[in-house]
Amino acid sequence: MKQSANPLLQFPAHRPRRMRRNDWSRRMMQENSLSANNLIYPVFLLDGKNQSEAVVSMPGVNRLSLDLLLPVAQECVDLGIPVLALFPVIDPALKTPDGKESINPNGLVPKAVRELKKQFPNLGIMTDVALDPYTSHGQDGVLDSAGYILNDETTAILVQQALTQAEAGVDIVAPSDMMDGRIGKIREALEQKDLIHTMIMAYSAKYASAFYGPFRDAVGSAKNLGKADKKTYQMDASNSDEALREIALDISEGADMVMVKPGMPYLDIVRRVKDVFEYPTYAYQVSGEYAMLKAAAQNGWLDHDAVMIESLLAFRRAGADGVLTYFALEAARYLKAKA
Ligand code: PBG
Repeated sequence: MKQSANPLLQFPAHRPRRMRRNDWSRRMMQENSLSANNLIYPVFLLDGKNQSEAVVSMPGVNRLSLDLLLPVAQECVDLGIPVLALFPVIDPALKTPDGKESINPNGLVPKAVRELKKQFPNLGIMTDVALDPYTSHGQDGVLDSAGYILNDETTAILVQQALTQAEAGVDIVAPSDMMDGRIGKIREALEQKDLIHTMIMAYSAKYASAFYGPFRDAVGSAKNLGKADKKTYQMDASNSDEALREIALDISEGADMVMVKPGMPYLDIVRRVKDVFEYPTYAYQVSGEYAMLKAAAQNGWLDHDAVMIESLLAFRRAGADGVLTYFALEAARYLKAKA
């Protein structure tokens, strides 16, 4: 045995590097993993045919018309991505203060849901319940004369929107509006219409975040919103306990799954939520997070695939069962190639 000047320190009591020395022993002690099952792919939907527009602030993301989205859905199925989340780009001529195009059964979203479910019965389809793509002012609800977003009046429209989507056959409705009590009202309405299989993924802990900027470009609500913000309904970045109260409410009102949003800057919230509620928990790696990683990778400042996978694994380590991410397709391709 090697001798040390200090008889108490003849050798390190522990050598954690022993387990890190080989690829196989590193794999053997992995505590968390990432698979295509953990990915939800958000996509931007255009009206018309053969339409594809690049989203400048989200390199690699295109807004697509339904015909061009179908092959993307096929690739999701082939790669094992369980769910596609639809976000519509609404014709500005259809935007109104009350966002009533959101409840049109022949609108862009219900039409796409019907076609996607017909062609891909085993691919989960999820739709956003919120008014911002449909309102002329870009807020998620209707306003009073002072510009305050009215809670109960907005919720009544959201219930209709969720029913419209559910009747079109969507699997998951995802209220992203942050109105009080909307999960309960939506659940009640679904039950009354016997739509008992429609799942609700609640955007429960949604923060008023500047990381949503590129998304608002993508759906075209940025111009409508202008300099206004969403701080009277989305949460303050200073808070953590408040997120737990929001999650508790949404679970008690009938949510099947809860979500924390944004993702990477809020992994502490994900961990608390998972620990406290032990409920299906999702996180949204939002547009701004995606944009940051893409921009740095494009400049050669970060290794694209490495940071993509590391960032997604971080969500899993924090306790997320799944991640909504614009990287879903690329990550699933990467995972398949490595398998
Ligand atoms: C709309 C909605 C937003 C996002 C998802 N649904 C934007 C917002 O609240 O302003 C953001 C997603 C992203 O940034 O990727 N209610």
